[in-house]
Order: sequence, then structure tokens, then C-alpha cells
Amino acid sequence: SHSLSFDYVIIGVTGDLTMRKLLPAFYERFRLGEIALDTRIIGVARSALSTETYRERAREALVEFAFSASQDRDGVTAFLDLVHYVSLDASDRAASGWSLLEALLATHADRVRVFYVATAPKLYVLTADAIAAHGLITEATRIVLEKPIGTDLASAKAINDGVGRHFREEQIFRIDHYLGKQTVQNILALRFANPILERVWNADSIAQVQITAAETVGVGKRGPYYDTAGALRDMVQNHLLQILSLVAMEPPTALSATDLRDEKLKILRALKPMDPDTIARDTVRAQYVAGEIGGKPVDGYLDDLGVAASNTETFLAIRAEVRTTRWAGVPFYLRTGKRMARKESEVVIEFRPQPWAIFSEPPKPDRLVIRIQPDEGVSLSLASKDPRAAGFGLHEAVLDVSYAKAFGTRYPDSYEDLLMAVVRGDQVLFIRRDEVQASWRWIEPILDGWADNIRPMETYPAGSCGPSSSDDLLRDDGFSWKEKI
Ligand code: BG6
Repeated sequence: SHSLSFDYVIIGVTGDLTMRKLLPAFYERFRLGEIALDTRIIGVARSALSTETYRERAREALVEFAFSASQDRDGVTAFLDLVHYVSLDASDRAASGWSLLEALLATHADRVRVFYVATAPKLYVLTADAIAAHGLITEATRIVLEKPIGTDLASAKAINDGVGRHFREEQIFRIDHYLGKQTVQNILALRFANPILERVWNADSIAQVQITAAETVGVGKRGPYYDTAGALRDMVQNHLLQILSLVAMEPPTALSATDLRDEKLKILRALKPMDPDTIARDTVRAQYVAGEIGGKPVDGYLDDLGVAASNTETFLAIRAEVRTTRWAGVPFYLRTGKRMARKESEVVIEFRPQPWAIFSEPPKPDRLVIRIQPDEGVSLSLASKDPRAAGFGLHEAVLDVSYAKAFGTRYPDSYEDLLMAVVRGDQVLFIRRDEVQASWRWIEPILDGWADNIRPMETYPAGSCGPSSSDDLLRDDGFSWKEKI
């Protein structure tokens, strides 16, 4: 592919996200030759730093976080030549740094210009206002908004309205980095490039779906943000509901931004709304207390935050329902948590059992597991004749594909694809306004119900699989969470 010239303004460039994800992602694409030497990555933040000092910080971040950087001193230096720094509070239209940014951007007035807003969501509208007030929005300008878009439906609408006053929807790129994961995109390939799967992809053949995103990390330095968010806002409103909509959607007529997002939206709107009864019965929320992970003792959430009390969930499990012809009656179980036993994100599709008992020992239901991370891959477990058994004994055998082995390549970080898609103007992997609002509409009653304590908070020890009521949620339906294979 030929290399692209563009100006990418990152607002909030001293933050964790820029250092861990954005700079490494640009660097990797630069190494691959996709970014031209006259491209500029213009970092904006409030700290008074020189470009030289910022470049040194960026170098340290690259060595720590970029896949290829530690062996590539010269390449890193060449990349850092693209990086510039402007000291500016971009949410303040009267700030003095604007003239510097204006002058810098004016030297390439016609090229693709991106504003990536990696600050607190409450600053998004002020920032968009200020960018507009300084006349920096050209025809080729785009804005990227990080999640979370708001904290509830009203604040999400306010952000969408406020940013939408200056940018057309085609210029707004709402990022959900899960859509940048190859394995999440692969859900589309599995379903729509393999008719043998798509033909059984419905309530006739599928008994239940499980979507899990388990992490071993705690809240780290992000405590102040996380404590106002919790797992429902942090993981479900965006990542898990996006995965659910890819698993459940009808085939789009084409892989275009409009067609794909239309179909995802229909699923988000088909989620059965929660009411006080279902919130009490079909949701579980919990917070980690001290425990052990990988043989090492770890603190509880309250100690991690240094607070005496908090009503924030770090784990949840939810039974959801998609009210469409394809999925009637099939439970979709969602589960996510911090400080769990393993890092493991996956989708489990469990098929219906054999309806007539031919074998004395009933086979286990067939199961397709889409491993999102780590150990990216897909496995299909099938009941097989057990050669060790006397008579016609059955045992499950697993067809297992590891993508790293199958393709012999590293897995690019999710941000690499997404950052470059913004430059190309391709919105297919970004969230449309109506999707954000539809998912908040489903989330909000759960937030309210939990605030009213309709479903009380529980605890779980760090290093566990969450509270036992998460298992009860499935047991009541005659199912259980997939055990580790
Ligand atoms: C982020 C959440 O969006 O996703 C974090 O804010 C979470 O809390 C992270 O740790 C998980 O991302 P990944 O790519 O490691 O699964």
C-alpha cells in the first residue's frame, strides 16, 4: 500500500492511552511504510513541554509499549521526526496556544486533518466548539471520539448534539477499540463467509450464547475514572454490546458502513428492555476483595482506590434477550470483570443437544468457541467415538485453529487499523450516533435499578470467577459457563 500524508492532532497526548496505544500504533504503521515522511502527529496537552522533551517521553513509551521498537533505534528516531507538541488547553477557546496550532496546520491546509480527542468526555463539546471557533474544520477534517460517549443517554445525546453542531456524521469517528481487533472482525468472516455456520446460526440450532471479557488487571491508575463508571459503562455499553450485535445481526447486504451499522442497530434495538423484575433476576454485580492471582496476593478494590466505601461494580453477569425471529428464546449471557482468574475474552456458541437418545451416554452439546484474546483462534468441540471406551462411549474432541499458527503473523494492536481507517475516511468499524444512543437506552434502566439497589452488590475474591450467583444465572436455565478447555 502507498504511504499517506496527513495531520493527526491528538488532544490529551500526555495521557495513558496515547502513550500505551496511539503512539505505538502509529509507529508500527510507519514501519510498515503506510505513513509518509511529511505526515505530522501533533500532540496537544496542557503541560508546558517543548517538542524535544515530548519526543523523549514518546521514545520511552515506544520502547516500553511498541512491539518492534526496542530493536529499532533509528526507526524510532525517524518516526519521532513526525511528532510535534503544542502546549494548549484545547477545551478553552481563549487559550493562547491556539495561534501556534493554527499556524502549524495552515502550512498543509488541504490534506486530511484529524482531531483525536482523548480527554474526559465532559470536555468533548467544549473542544469541538473551540476547534470550530478557530476555523480549523476543513472539508477533509475528521474528529475521533474515545469511549465513553457520556455516562447515560442524556449525556451521550448532549455530546452527539454538541459535536454534531460542527461536524457532519460522516466526519465523526466514535472509536470502540474492540472493533479494531482482528478476532472481533473475524466474527463477520466466520458467519458470512462460511455458509455451513450461517445456516445453523439461529434459535433452531443454538441453545445459548456466552460473551465473556475477563481481565486479571485491577483498576490500576485509572481508579478515579473507573469508580465513576463501573463495568457496565466501561465494558458492556460499548465492547460487549458491539460483540453481541455482530454475533446476532442479520447479514448486511454489503460490508459498507451504512449497511453494517444498520444491521447492528436493529439488534441493539431488539434487546429486551430490563425492568425491576428482570434486573433483580437476570443481573449480578460484584466488587473484588483481596485475593490471589497467579500465586501472588492482591488487594481488594477499596484498597486499590484508597477509599472506605464504593458502590461501583468491577464484575457483572447479565442474561440478555434479543427479540428477533432468529433468536427468540435464546439467552445471551454477558460477563465481564477485573481481577479475575485469567485474562480471557471469548464468545461461546452452544448448539442444541441431539434430540433423540441413540447413544446410551448422551453426548455433550457441540460448542463453537471464538477466542478473541489472548491465544486468538476458534475451536469447535464435537462429540466423538472414544477409542478408549468399551462399547460406544463418547467423548468430546476439539477442532482447534490458532490464528497465530495458521497465519504465522503477529496480531496487530486494535488501534493500528482504526487510526488508519480514520485517515482513509472509512467508517465501517466506527460507532454511529444511533448505535451509541440505542445501547445507552438499554443500559440506563439497569444503572437506575442498581442505583435503587434492586440487585444488591456482592463481593468476589480477586483471582476467582466472580460470585457464585453468576453461575446460578445459567444453572436456572440448565446451562453453565464454559469451563477452561
Ligand atoms: C477499555 C476499558 O475500554 O478496555 C478498560 O476502559 C479495559 O477498563 C480495556 O481494561 C480492555 O481492553 P482489552 O483490549 O485489553 O481487552
